[in-house]
Order: sequence, then structure tokens, then C-alpha cells
Amino acid sequence: MNVRRNALASGLLLLWSVAQAGSPSAPIDGPTYAADGGLMLPANYREWVFLSAGIDMSYIAGAMPTDPHMMDNVFVDPAAYRAFQATGRWPDRTMLVKENRRASGKGSINKSGNFQSTEIMDIEVHLKDASRFPAKWAFFDFGAGRQSAAAIPQAADCYSCHAAHGAVDNTFVQFYPTLLLIAKAKGTLSAGYKRDEGAPD
Ligand code: HEC
Repeated sequence: MNVRRNALASGLLLLWSVAQAGSPSAPIDGPTYAADGGLMLPANYREWVFLSAGIDMSYIAGAMPTDPHMMDNVFVDPAAYRAFQATGRWPDRTMLVKENRRASGKGSINKSGNFQSTEIMDIEVHLKDASRFPAKWAFFDFGAGRQSAAAIPQAADCYSCHAAHGAVDNTFVQFYPTLLLIAKAKGTLSAGYKRDEGAPD
């Protein structure tokens, strides 16, 4: 009897350790920090919710076309996405990833237009963590995919442009079509965005 019970117990233990061994692919919904205080690149951001892709976006009037062309993909962690759907606002520990890729026109059967290549040019993260950053939000630049990155200083123009023009809470929801509709419905659009759109505050 004891032998059977032990066999059962070790069977369960085995199942448990198999489940634990699978945990590297378990979703990380919040930030993880390195020993030096830098933010760890969320390894599984490609499993997050895709918000939108932009092509050669530039925020300077009269800017020359980007060469090479660049396309960006924006992802948000699933917990923050669910909260936004319910409230039109970002909860604490929201993480957004912008992955910039080199575009290419030449490849396979493509005759015109551009597609995204395998080459990542830059990965940037926008994180809301009030327990760590007095201004709540912080930006991080992981280059082509460094494992960790220090917060970009608050004086950088990243912060001022996002604060002045982001449609919801420092983020560019006006370029994420499914979220823009939610923010409109919930009445959470920023005054800065409404000014840019020419609407009264
Ligand atoms: C002049 C305005 C401007 C500046 C300066 C700027 N951004 Fe942005 N940022 C944007 C716009 C517009 C988008 C939307 C991009 C899209 O739709 O692909 C965006 C989107 C992002 C996103 C996706 C999440 C979000 O907040 O919407 C990240 C991450 C990001 N920027 C990082 C940075 C970093 C890091 C810097 C500074 C090194 C920076 N940005 C500087 C305008 C700006």
C-alpha cells in the first residue's frame, strides 16, 4: 500500500516538475528588473497583444523618407490590454513594446511594396511602474535586443512628446485603432490629443 502511495506521490511530483520546467514560456505580465536596477527585456513580448504597425513614421515636418524603410510593431502585455478594454485607462505595471524592423522590398515573389525583414533595428519599452518612477512612466531602449536596459532620463524628449501628444496617459493610443475606439467610448482621451485634433477641450 505504502509502495503504491509513494509511487503515486512521485508521479505527482514528476508532473509538477514538468509543469515547472515549462514555466520559461509562462507569460510575464509585469516588469522584471536586473540586479543593477535595469529593466529586463520581456522575453515573450511577441506573445502579447498586437496593437498596430507603422511604416516610416516621422514626427518632424518635411522629414526625408526613411532609407532603409522601417516598420514598427507595437505590443502590450495582456493584463494591461484587458484592463484598458474595461476602463480606457492603463493600470500600474503596464508595459508597451515598440519593435522597429528594417523593411525590405526584395525577396521571394514580391514585386512591389515592402514587408518586414528578420532584422530588428531597435526595441523600445514604455513602462508604467509608480513604485519605481515618481513620474510613473519610464522609457527603455534595448537596441537590437539587449537583455536589460537602464531607464532613459526624464529630461529626454521621449517624455515631453508623449506627454503633450499621446491620446491616453502618455501613450499614442490614437495610432492603435482598437484602443482609440475604446478611449473615445470611455471618454479618456487627453486634452493634448483633442487640441491636436482641433476639437475644443
Ligand atoms: C515627437 C514625438 C515623439 C518622440 C520625441 C518620441 N516618440 Fe515614441 N511614439 C511617438 C508616436 C507618434 C508613437 C506611435 C508610434 C506608432 O504608432 O507606431 C510612439 C510610440 C512609442 C512607443 C509605443 C508605446 C506608446 O507609448 O505608445 C514606445 C515604446 C516609444 N514610442 C518609445 C519612445 C522612446 C524611447 C523615445 C525617446 C528615445 C520616444 N518614443 C520619443 C512619438 C514620439
